[in-house]
This record gives sequence, structure tokens and C-alpha cells, in this order.
Amino acid sequence: MIPSVLPTYNRAPLHFTRGEGSWLIARDGTRYLDMTSGIAVNALGHAHPDLVRVLTEQAGRIWHLSNLYDIPQQQALADALVDKTFADTAFFTNSGTEACELAVKMARKYWHEKEQPDRVKIITFSGSFHGRSTAAIAASGSEKMTKGFGPLLPGFVHLEFGDHDALRAAMQDPQVGAVLLEPVQGEGGIRVVPDQCLKGLRDLCDKTGTLLILDEVQCGMGRTGRLFAHEWAGITPDIMMVAKGIGGGFPLGAVLATEAAAAGMVAGTHGSTYGGNPLGCAVGLEVMRHVADPDFLDAVNRKAGLLRQRLEGLVATHPDLFEGVRGLGLMLGLKCKVPNTDLVKAGHARHVLTVGAADNVVRLLPALNIPDSDIAEAVARLDGAAAQLKAG
Ligand SMILES: Cc1ncc(COP(=O)(O)O)c(C=O)c1O
Repeated sequence: MIPSVLPTYNRAPLHFTRGEGSWLIARDGTRYLDMTSGIAVNALGHAHPDLVRVLTEQAGRIWHLSNLYDIPQQQALADALVDKTFADTAFFTNSGTEACELAVKMARKYWHEKEQPDRVKIITFSGSFHGRSTAAIAASGSEKMTKGFGPLLPGFVHLEFGDHDALRAAMQDPQVGAVLLEPVQGEGGIRVVPDQCLKGLRDLCDKTGTLLILDEVQCGMGRTGRLFAHEWAGITPDIMMVAKGIGGGFPLGAVLATEAAAAGMVAGTHGSTYGGNPLGCAVGLEVMRHVADPDFLDAVNRKAGLLRQRLEGLVATHPDLFEGVRGLGLMLGLKCKVPNTDLVKAGHARHVLTVGAADNVVRLLPALNIPDSDIAEAVARLDGAAAQLKAG
């Protein structure tokens, strides 16, 4: 009999009832050190007192307001994002997938308005992940995501990650209107696009007028040690997808764009019942207040250095289990020699939570404010898990 919850997930037998900072507490009281943060969502950890306060205060005033009316919290968050980024404008969504939908629509509308409606093609890369909607799975193009869901939305050109020659050739196609990529692939196995490649891609886009769409759903909002990952390369996109960390655990996403890229998105071209609701935007504003603070980002970089150093030590201790550490900031991956699922499972037995990714990688995406002592404890527990794996 089919379970009452549609069985699209292989869930671990863990039952959490409470969260505190970097810890999740199971119903039997066992404390687990959470190095996943709900897959890069709980940017400030669980139950951060400022977020709880802002959410409950807002809940006491007003939960929902239609986008037919002015939503002051939405305006304030849009102003804050525009102030701190390349963007001139923001549209709020409830998830990364919805942000992907709008990014694709915006790119198409841009070329329609420019009277070049043939420029519908969007270049994407192997290993990418942009969500689970029909547009997002077509964008990713992987068999795992698309099999059985055809016919797929046409218009995506899939290239091999890191194949510069193929990219240069594909950009010559006059029907290409945009390139979509994650500066750091998350689900794809914590694969960082080097700064010089992002710069080169920006140049290629500029030469042909092609829109550069960055998906910073997982790597954005302080995760890599800058507010947004592309800042490391000194470039800016035309359109950017954001979600996950921006809401600190409340469902919130956004598309940020330049005025030029967003020019076609006039009244009536897009909408969302819940997008930009007062609860989500009040929380998002408080997350921004913390994460956009340069001192906070400095601390993320310092903590990232500490975690990376400890993980390098773990790899050196267990060269038979691990190939190396990869990633940027607090978005780190352990490339495994044993099945990554075995390490995740062994971690559960040691009460430390990690999450797998493609390319046999185990991801570590802790809260951005994780205490140093929890970093040390997490790696000690992973060391115990590794020793247990070796012992068989
Ligand atoms: C890079 C990236 N884009 C898009 C998405 C989809 O976001 P959501 O699950 O909020 O729809 C994800 C989710 O993991 C992601 O990592």
C-alpha cells in the first residue's frame, strides 16, 4: 500500500522534534550535530532567537497580504537586496524552483521585447540542479531527473561542466539567449566554477549580449564567505536565483535582476499568491541584517578555514576512505573512496548529520554561525564514523 506521504524520498529513520543552533534533538532526547542545516537552509542555525522573535511578532500582526496591495516587509527586503547586490529589482518566490521558473521566463521575455524571439536557447551544464519543476528538470537535463517526465520543455543546450571549447562553440549559436549555472554546484558534488572561468563566461556573454543567469540558491546568502558566491570572481550576473538560506528556514526565494534584464516583466506577466508574503519577508530581512554584516562574513571565512583544515586532517588520517576536500566557504565536500551513503549512515550512528551529493561526495553545509567547538566536535565524530567504516 502506498504510504500516506508520497514516497519520493528515501528517508533516514531519524525523528527530530526540536532544534537549537547547530543541534537537532530527536524525540528520545539524543542530540545530533547538524552539518546539513536543512541542506543550506538554516543559515543562522535552528531556532535563532532573533528569527523566532521577528516571525512571532509578524505573526501577531498579519500573516498574509495579497500582492494586490503594498507589502511593507517585501519592499524593505527588496530594498536591502538591491542595496547589497548588483540587482536593481527583486521578485519573491517561495522556493528555488519557482525562482528558476521566473529566471527562464524573464530571459525569454527579454529577447521577445528585443524583437529577437528566436533567442530562446539557454545553455546549462552537466551536474547542475535547478529544481524539480518541468522547466528546472529540463534545464538540468540529467537522465536521473528527467526520465519518464517527457516531453520536456525545449530550449536547453546541455554542455559538459568545464568544457570551455564546447561552451565557446555553443555561444556562437545565434539562438542562444542565456547561460544558466551555479557558481558552486551543490547537488552535483560541490564543484566550484573557478573565478577565471566565471570571468571568461561573463566576457563571452558580454560579446554576444547573452544573459548570464546565476543560480545561487545553494551557494548564496553568505554560504561561501561572500554575500553571493559570484562576488569572489568580481563579476555580476544579469539575473540571479536565490532561495534556501535567504529565509533562514522560512520558505523564501527570489529572482534578482538588473533593470535591463527585467525590462519585459511588466504588470501581469508574472505573479505568485504567497511570494513575498509578510512572514517570509520579515524573517528574510532579519537574516539579511545578520548575514550581510561584514563582520559576520569575516567570521564565516574564518570558520570555513577551520573546518577545511580539520577535514584535510581527516582525509590525511583516512587516505583509504577519502580522496580530498573540495568547496568554498562553508559549502564543503568530502570526496569519498567508499560509497558516500556509507559515511552518511556511519555519521548517523555517531550522531553527526551530513548529506550526500553526486560524484560520491559527502556535503558539509553547517549553520554559518556554527561555534568553533561544534566544528571540532563534528570532525571528531566524522573521524569516529570513518574508523567504524574501516573496522567494517
Ligand atoms: C542550486 C539549486 N537550485 C535550485 C534548487 C531548488 O530549490 P527548491 O528545492 O527550494 O525548489 C536547489 C535545491 O536544492 C538548488 O540546490
